[in-house]
Amino acid sequence: MSYANSRIPSSAQQGVHEKLAERVARHLRQPFRKPFADYNRAALALSLEGWDGHAPLILDAGCGVGHSTIQIARAYPDHWVIGVDQSADRLNRRKPYPDALLPTNLVFVRADLVDYWRLLAERGLKLARHYILYPNPWPKIGHLTRRWHAHPVFPWIPKLGGVLECRSNWRVYIEEFALALGMACGRQIAWEPFQAEVPLTPFERKYRDSGQTLFRLRCDLGGETGQGGNGPTMQTTTAGAQQ
Ligand SMILES: C[S@@+](CC[C@H](N)C(=O)[O-])C[C@H]1O[C@@H](n2cnc3c(N)ncnc32)[C@H](O)[C@@H]1O
Repeated sequence: MSYANSRIPSSAQQGVHEKLAERVARHLRQPFRKPFADYNRAALALSLEGWDGHAPLILDAGCGVGHSTIQIARAYPDHWVIGVDQSADRLNRRKPYPDALLPTNLVFVRADLVDYWRLLAERGLKLARHYILYPNPWPKIGHLTRRWHAHPVFPWIPKLGGVLECRSNWRVYIEEFALALGMACGRQIAWEPFQAEVPLTPFERKYRDSGQTLFRLRCDLGGETGQGGNGPTMQTTTAGAQQ
């Protein structure tokens, strides 16, 4: 397949999954108790090693090759930015800059978000910003529970607070994510198509260059930021990391 010829996920599902609301309600009622894997505990410790304990935290969840993490760290130099992905191969791919030019306020760690999100919450940490950029869409109808908003870990995402941003090239994914988040927060969550003038991620660039419509949800979940929750709610809007 040539570069600018990427496809929108094709699915028999054209709108919100009929079982989504029931799933989300169940996950909100019944806390997810899967035991943590040691490597994810180690990843959390590693990701906080360089943090001064005060800088507001940003999580780039499922950061892939980490280009977005770098752009975000440049846009928010006074924040500690953590890029998490389960794929060591993606994390280790060559970055678009030499190491010496990488921002120093970021760290990449290999972890499973299913544990990492819950471990952050267990430590009492709050995020200033939280990016979930182009998550795997799992477009097959039978794969509903693999989508983050229908996964049992979902209730931990809003618990982490901050400005949450999710982007996808599959409208249904964002529509569903907004519905699930609305159920967790007790309010309507807006989403919109948008233009990615400066793409944040390689997937975003590829989809944009293929002429696809991109969708995003951006929502301030409030809450205090950092350790122990003494910081102000982050409302920062800095050019560069957002379109
Ligand atoms: C479609 S890619 C998008 C990557 C990047 N955000 C981008 O837009 O270029 C989805 C990423 O999520 C990561 N991922 C999927 N499930 C994960 C999990 N349970 N824990 C951590 N990362 C995960 C994958 O390894 C992959 O890099």
